[in-house]
Amino acid sequence: MSTEETHGHGSTSASAEVAARVERRWATIAVVIIVMMALLAAFAGIHRATMPQPRVETTDPSRIHLSGEFIESNLGSVLEANGNVTVRAIGQQYSFTPACIVVPVDTPITLRATSADVVHGILVQGTNINTMLVPGYVSEQLMRFARTGDYLMPCQEFCSFGHEGMWGKVKVIDKTEFANRAKGGGRLSCVGQ
Ligand code: CUA
Repeated sequence: MSTEETHGHGSTSASAEVAARVERRWATIAVVIIVMMALLAAFAGIHRATMPQPRVETTDPSRIHLSGEFIESNLGSVLEANGNVTVRAIGQQYSFTPACIVVPVDTPITLRATSADVVHGILVQGTNINTMLVPGYVSEQLMRFARTGDYLMPCQEFCSFGHEGMWGKVKVIDKTEFANRAKGGGRLSCVGQ
């Protein structure tokens, strides 16, 4: 019977062999892809270059205007003692505060931002700076600009009817100019300039 089967279905067993070989090959490729994705996820998580962030900082969106890091007088850019710059900003329907962020060129900058109401996003056009502003959480993003100039900063997360009108700007200026403006202390912005 088996002889008969081999004779009668010779081409079938040959194509079954081909199918098995192809299946093994694709199974191997699938396993390789899964392993690569697991390695990438592990690398991203460990290296902190991308999300998920290794630490979570929370805020109370109903009180950010009244006390703490994100009160109005503390928003804007500040030159730290080590020469780095910290920018604090909030997003709310439908604007950023400050609406124009001023920073020096070629300087390590830490952006710390949160939302006062719903989820917004900060995206700086022409760069890879892109973070979500989630009410109740502080988003921290490291940035550095190689060139001076104006960069548009649209809200990149749909936040209701006024979303398309929610734009800010980042103004990157000369280091010395920034240092001069920062001399008096306080928080800098380029709103109204
Ligand atoms: Cu804020 Cu879209």
